[in-house]
Parts: sequence; C-alpha cells; structure tokens
Amino acid sequence: MGDIRLKKTLRRQSRQIRQITLVLGFCLVCYCLLFVSQSPTTTITLPLSDDDGDKVGAPRSRRPRLSSKILDNLSLDEGECNAAFPGLTKEIDDIVAVGPFKVKNMGDFGPLQGRIKDGQIHILHSQRKRDLSQEMLNSRTAALHQLHRALITSPSPLPDTIFSLNFQDQPFGTALTYSRQADASFRPKDANSRFFLMPHFSFWAWPLPFIGSLPRAAAAITALESAYLTSTAWQQNKISKAVWRGTSWYNSVHSPRLRQKLLAAAKGQPWADVQALEWQGGHNATNALPIEDFCKYKYVVHTEGVTYSGRFQFLQMCASVVLTPPIQWMQHTTHLVRPLFSSSLDLEPGPHVDGTRQSSGASSARTHAKAKKTAGSGSASSAPASAPAGPGQERRGWVPSERIRKAWPVQYEPDEANIVFVAPDWSDLGDTVAWLEAHPKVAEGIARRQRELFVGGGYFSPAAEACYWRALVRGWAKMARVDEEEWAGTEGVTFEAFALSNGD
Ligand SMILES: *[C@@H]1O[C@H](CO)[C@@H](O)[C@H](O)[C@H]1NC(C)=O
Ligand SMILES: *[C@@H]1O[C@H](CO)[C@@H](O)[C@H](O)[C@H]1NC(C)=O
Repeated sequence: MGDIRLKKTLRRQSRQIRQITLVLGFCLVCYCLLFVSQSPTTTITLPLSDDDGDKVGAPRSRRPRLSSKILDNLSLDEGECNAAFPGLTKEIDDIVAVGPFKVKNMGDFGPLQGRIKDGQIHILHSQRKRDLSQEMLNSRTAALHQLHRALITSPSPLPDTIFSLNFQDQPFGTALTYSRQADASFRPKDANSRFFLMPHFSFWAWPLPFIGSLPRAAAAITALESAYLTSTAWQQNKISKAVWRGTSWYNSVHSPRLRQKLLAAAKGQPWADVQALEWQGGHNATNALPIEDFCKYKYVVHTEGVTYSGRFQFLQMCASVVLTPPIQWMQHTTHLVRPLFSSSLDLEPGPHVDGTRQSSGASSARTHAKAKKTAGSGSASSAPASAPAGPGQERRGWVPSERIRKAWPVQYEPDEANIVFVAPDWSDLGDTVAWLEAHPKVAEGIARRQRELFVGGGYFSPAAEACYWRALVRGWAKMARVDEEEWAGTEGVTFEAFALSNGD
C-alpha cells in the first residue's frame, strides 16, 4: 500500500512539474514573440557593427532593413544617422581630420558665402543672378534649399559658422563642393584648401526632361526594377547589352577623348547600345532615354565628364552592372563603391580586326575566366592586378596605373564587388561584357549588390541626405576658423529674402 501511495505522490509531482514546465515554456515563447515583434522598431538604435572599415558599404542584407518611415524621415539625430547609414560621412570625417582652416572673406570673387547663425542662413556674398547661366542658378538655388531643409529639420541646434559654397562643377578654393579628384596628388597644395563634398543638386531637382530629380527617378526605377526581382526575370528579361547615351565632346582634361574612344570601341558591336546624344536645342535630345530606362539593360556604361558626372548616382540605383574606367572624381557617396577590376579577370580577347581587339557574344562561350585570387587576408586585396602573359601569348588586359591604384587601393572579388572598372581606353569593354555574359550569376550579383547598397541601404534617401548635410555643417564648423573682424562690415540677407530675389 505504501508503495502505491508513493507512486501516486510521484505521479502527482511529475504532473506538477510538467505543468510548471508548460507554463514556463509558454512564458518563454511569449517573451520571444514580443522581442521579435519589437525588433523592427528598434532597427536604427541597434549598435550596427561598422567600426570595422571593411564592412562599411557591405550589402544591407547583412543588416536589418530600413523602413520607408526611416528613409523618409528628415529629422534623424546624429546617432540614428550613423547607425542607419554607416560610412555615409567618410568624406567629411577625412577632410575634418586634415585639420583647421581659415574662412577668408572672398568679397564678390569666388564662391557664395553665407553665415549660419542660430539655425538661420544669411547670404553674405553671391554672384548676381544675371551673371549666372540657368544651370548654375538652378544648382545654387537647389544647394541653398537643401542646406536650409537640413537646418530646419534638425532635431538639435547646429553650430554657427560661415561657409563657402561652390555650386560649379569644378572644385575651387575651400568650399562645400560637388566633387574632388579621387587621386590625392591632384589636389591643391595650398595648406588652407579643403573640399567638403556636398550632395548633388539633383537630390533637390534637375530639370532635364529625362531626369526630373533623384526622388522622381528613384520611384521610377523602383517601379521598373520590380519586374526583375527574381533571378530568372533578371537573367532572361534584362537586355544583354551595354547601354550609354551622352555628349561625345564632354571630356575631362585628364581623359581627353574618353567618350570618342567609347563610341569607337562600341561601334557596330552586337553587345552595345551606345549612342551619342542628338541634341535638339539645349535641353532635349531625340535619342535620350529616360534615366530609369538604363536599368532595363544588364550593363550600363558610365563616363565622367569634365569632372564628375551627375548621372552616376542615378545609374547606381539600377540593379545593373555599371562599367566604367576607374572613377576619377569622388562625389559624397562614391567611396561606397566596391570595384572589380577587369584587369584582374582572365579575359579571352576577341578576334583581332585591323589590330583592334574586338569581341562579340560568341567569344563568351570560350571564356573560362575566373577572377585572379587576390593576395593577403580577408576578401579584398591591395595587390595590383594584371593578367600575366602566358608563354607565347601576347600580354592581355591592362595594368592599373600608379595613380589609379593610389585612388583605389582595394580591389574586390567578383562575389563582393558592386561595380566593374574597365580599361581607361575601353579596350577591354567588349571582352568584359563577354566575360560577364559567360558568368551570369556573377553579373547578377554585382548588379544586385549595387542597388541593394545604394537604394536598399538608403544612402540616396531623403533621410540620408539630411543626415549628411547636418554632418557637413558640423564638420565644417568644427574646423573653420573665422576672424570676425574680417567680416565685421559684411551685411547679409536672410535666405528667405534671398530665395525671393535669387540674388538680383
Ligand atoms: C523621425 O525621427 C525622429 C527621431 O527619431 C522622431 O522623433 C520622429 O517622430 C520621426 N518622425 C516620423 C514622422 O517618424
Ligand atoms: C524630348 O524629345 C523627345 C524625342 O524627340 C520627345 O518625345 C519628348 O517629348 C521631348 N520632351 C520634352 C520635355 O520636350
């Protein structure tokens, strides 16, 4: 009998333990569910681990996605900005690290100068409206409104300062400016010279019929890309050609004839849809493509102009492979590109006609290339790469110059890159397209990583732009030395009044 009682007691106890376990388990499940359901709202307060420089610009897929609520929010604070867009302010951080500089009163010569005081902009010096082209006027109006928008949406006060703003394409003096040379040795030697890169005016508006503005193009590109979301759709429905439209004479002093050479290299080639724009008046061209239509192609050719090309950031929104000679002009987000150098690929040169290398889709079947293994630890290497010539073979490919390697010390593997740098004279453009055609998964990966970073990562979003402008004001103000005596007699006009008269 005592045995039976003991058994009953044991059974009762084990039933109780089971119940307690069930209750505890239930609590645990509830707790986990709560945590999971809350995590999206905590996205931007997460300490995203990007102190490791190599991760900067890593595809967003490795990190939590940013909601459109965040990407459209113009009032993120500094901590939220840094967590949401790691590496965004690298250009500012680099130029701040150079040290203090003097803001000289330029009078009526030089860039626009203004004062920020208690969050209010006062224009101190500006060129007269009638002395500016419509394009320059647009660019100035846009830049000032962009700055103003970032100030009035700031969640906390920004420091007072006096700034110089250069809205021309060519960097000049110490100012907020659109681009700088990628190669540091081209920069002015003046110890006081600083280029603080600002976001392009197209983030505000760009009144060309085929562009409109970055937000307009972003929406149009997102609509278009939604038809290519699956790998099958991308592989089968994007056009297997390299596309380009542009003005052939618009070249840099550093790369004269860049565009003519492109037209020559692509002429009559089955892999190319490359055409010089046929302008009708100053603002429209008969064969222009709406900017979003470039994304219908697997390969998009990019050319810089006299300096940077304002079109670059539009092409970076496509899930397409951008093919460009190594970039020579940095804009505020250009440091996020992860280049694969065509010189590191084992390209099969196409048939030679008249001593000119050519290639066609047919040569792709013969390419068995794979990326040259890069030396060193980690995935990227700073080793210069060129295809070594085999016995009895002509030397293939191109060797990046010292200048290019200084500007772009890191080359990425095909499965990490988000852009392809081809030979500066375009001589391997066709072979590179053929290689990508023979490695469609690699091509798709490069294309998708580009869009995933710049659009998915939100680096071109309204939130990131406002974050960047405020970081720019803070960075500039931190290093700018203003001798108030020098500015004592300089009367300003408020931004609001200036915006009405536009400087006349
Ligand atoms: C934007 O972000 C700020 C800072 O986190 C927040 O206070 C504000 O409510 C957000 N605005 C919207 C519309 O979500
Ligand atoms: C630009 O030119 C194209 C081709 O001639 C034409 O279809 C289009 O309507 C023009 N756009 C504007 C805004 O003039």
